[in-house]
Amino acid sequence: QASSPRQWQLSVQRSSLILLVLQNSALVMVMHHSRNSPTGIQPRYLASTAVLLVEVIKLLASLTLAIHDLRNTHPEAKASEIPTLLSRSIFASDSWKLIVPAALYTLQNSLVYVAISNLDAVTFQVTYQLKILTTVLFSILLLGRSISLRQWLALILLTLGVALVQVSGPLAAEDWKERLTSLIRGGRVLDTHVSSGFKGLMAVIAASLTSGLTCVYFEKLVKDSLASVSLWTRNVQLSFFSLFPALFIGVLWQDGAAISRNGFFAGYNPMVWLTIALQAFGGLVVAVCIAYADNVAKNFAASLSIVVSYVATAIMFRTPMTGHVSTRPPFLFFRICLLARDNQKEKQESLTKAG
Ligand code: C5P
Repeated sequence: QASSPRQWQLSVQRSSLILLVLQNSALVMVMHHSRNSPTGIQPRYLASTAVLLVEVIKLLASLTLAIHDLRNTHPEAKASEIPTLLSRSIFASDSWKLIVPAALYTLQNSLVYVAISNLDAVTFQVTYQLKILTTVLFSILLLGRSISLRQWLALILLTLGVALVQVSGPLAAEDWKERLTSLIRGGRVLDTHVSSGFKGLMAVIAASLTSGLTCVYFEKLVKDSLASVSLWTRNVQLSFFSLFPALFIGVLWQDGAAISRNGFFAGYNPMVWLTIALQAFGGLVVAVCIAYADNVAKNFAASLSIVVSYVATAIMFRTPMTGHVSTRPPFLFFRICLLARDNQKEKQESLTKAG
């Protein structure tokens, strides 16, 4: 009996991590397809509208779960008292602490759309693993955690793997120099295939930075107060504060003109709705992973999804998987990096030939 809360926590941990692997694998493929498949004469849907809808869905889901938690912690409360209890816990004196992660997550969610619209799915997924590195760095800087020499070596290896995907990938060495010099001098980066690779790469690096910083901040905040404030109340606060940048900066300021021209739902199709649903679900799963496991486990699960989506893509699109490759994750990860590099190389060669 005494071990049952611990067992319950362990099973929540495991199930949330497994769900995150599946959600991440599906999301990258579906999202990439939703951004890059031709929609005919329809304009492509606006990422800002999707970011806002995801926050609205997460807010409603978190509210429902927070009410459920309140009923459990206050069994004596009458139904009419629940709204007061709820608003008191949501607008508590420390709720302002969620303003920073809300703004950063909204920025990150928008950057992910930019990245995935400009990079192929594999390059995006592998490069986004830089968040493992940034999470560790922010854990050391902000939480004073330390890591072993072996873990440092693993991180260096990871960074090299990511760099490998970029070599002759979204940007060849020459283009790097050219684009960076042009950017530093304030010049315009031309809208070619290569420059979208550059844009995607910058977006995914920036998203990895915000991911590391925000998840470390959120983990500390949630774990320091889990006994007094439920995870779902924290998530209601997070989504509530996210609505403001998503609505005022993303939808109205950035895309207001396009929305008034074409409408809020222009370019929406079932694939877009699936992307939104998967993203909202993923946000809730990430919250559970951070609270019941930790950020390192969350990122490990997310990186495992590379293997899952690789196998899924191979099965769905009948691409042969090379038999001699070891199936041990480090080799598989390395192999995926190589595959992404070859894929980019081929694309670039065919572009050069066509040009
Ligand atoms: O890639 P990463 O793990 O940093 O992604 C975090 C995602 O989870 C973001 O889309 C963020 O909005 C979402 N999230 C959430 N609720 C939390 C923590 C993260 O919706 N409590």
